[in-house]
Amino acid sequence: MARLKTGSTDAAMDRITGAELGAITSRARSKRLRERLLAWYDKSHRDLPWRRSRDPYAIWISEAMLQQTRVETVIPYYERFLERFPDVEALATADRDDVFEVWAGLGYYSRARNLHRAALMVMEEFEGSIPDNVVALRRLPGVGRYTAGAVAAIAFDRPEAVVDGNVVRVLSRLLDIRADVSRKDVVERLWDEAGRLAEGPRPGDFNQALMELGATVCTPRSPRCEHLCPMKRLCHGRASGDVESLPNKPKKKQPRPVAAVAAWLPRRDRVLLVQRPDQGLLANLWELPGGELPTAAEPKDHVVAILRERIGLEVRDPMASGTVEHVFTHLRLRLHVFRFQSVAGRVRLRDHQAHRWVRPSRLPDLAQATLNRKTLELLL
Ligand code: ADE
Repeated sequence: MARLKTGSTDAAMDRITGAELGAITSRARSKRLRERLLAWYDKSHRDLPWRRSRDPYAIWISEAMLQQTRVETVIPYYERFLERFPDVEALATADRDDVFEVWAGLGYYSRARNLHRAALMVMEEFEGSIPDNVVALRRLPGVGRYTAGAVAAIAFDRPEAVVDGNVVRVLSRLLDIRADVSRKDVVERLWDEAGRLAEGPRPGDFNQALMELGATVCTPRSPRCEHLCPMKRLCHGRASGDVESLPNKPKKKQPRPVAAVAAWLPRRDRVLLVQRPDQGLLANLWELPGGELPTAAEPKDHVVAILRERIGLEVRDPMASGTVEHVFTHLRLRLHVFRFQSVAGRVRLRDHQAHRWVRPSRLPDLAQATLNRKTLELLL
């Protein structure tokens, strides 16, 4: 990629003292911010696999994965995904279950379903090319303001804003924005500021630099202002003395505790797996049959009735195998796992969309969530 030279030297930038902050006109200040940040990024950025690519498809996949998920977690998934589906056509023509299988463990499975649907749309409506502007990008399923901005800026060097959690933190500190950042007007202000800052050289790198600063220096706790931050002399939050209190966010709600049961139901040399509905939590993924327990219910007293109602099978004599805990964004799930010797009757599904009798050796091949893998580990 062509790299424009950034103007000022460190020494020149350091001449701007805290007292001068307010005196800098906002356009000159934006220019300095940009130059400083880009110079720092050029020296300090992490070598991440998607940063070695200029392929809009690869950048789109990386940004979809990076939403809600940490960089270290994403790297192996990104590499496997691109190996299996190297271009948009490969993804569009893939079986949806294969996409889920490669995604399994990354969480927020609607992202995988949307990527698959969006790839089909790119083939059908955009002649196989990822759109190069935010308006067209936002027509793709799963592509919101953030992903559209990120792909347009990083893959096509368009001067678009990109605001994620890291950018909210960096900008609220840099500009000393003390209002609650979940407020709509404050969100809009942050997007405006980010948009103004992106209007300069190398908007793709500039946006990644903002995110990178948030991830590695301007961290939620113990930000490394003194020794590492290239923006320290331009940062109004730091000048005010309590940068760590920013951004001002309302306290998160604790996840709601929920209890459920899951059952190992064998028939000859196979075991029953069911596929979740195509909407809602863990959509389309395979799991052991079971269901939510009523509040304060004794799991062993309810598991037989739950299986009769939801799966249509008659079972007897549950044997407790242990429990599995898993935290989703809004739920803290405790899953009570039972084994049964045998089952009678025909499968009649109430909520699930399909069932399969699977040989235990083939269980790892099914598209399933981490929760189900943890449950199988307990049983096998
Ligand atoms: N988080 C979201 N997008 C990112 C990117 N391109 N690099 C690093 N972290 C990110």
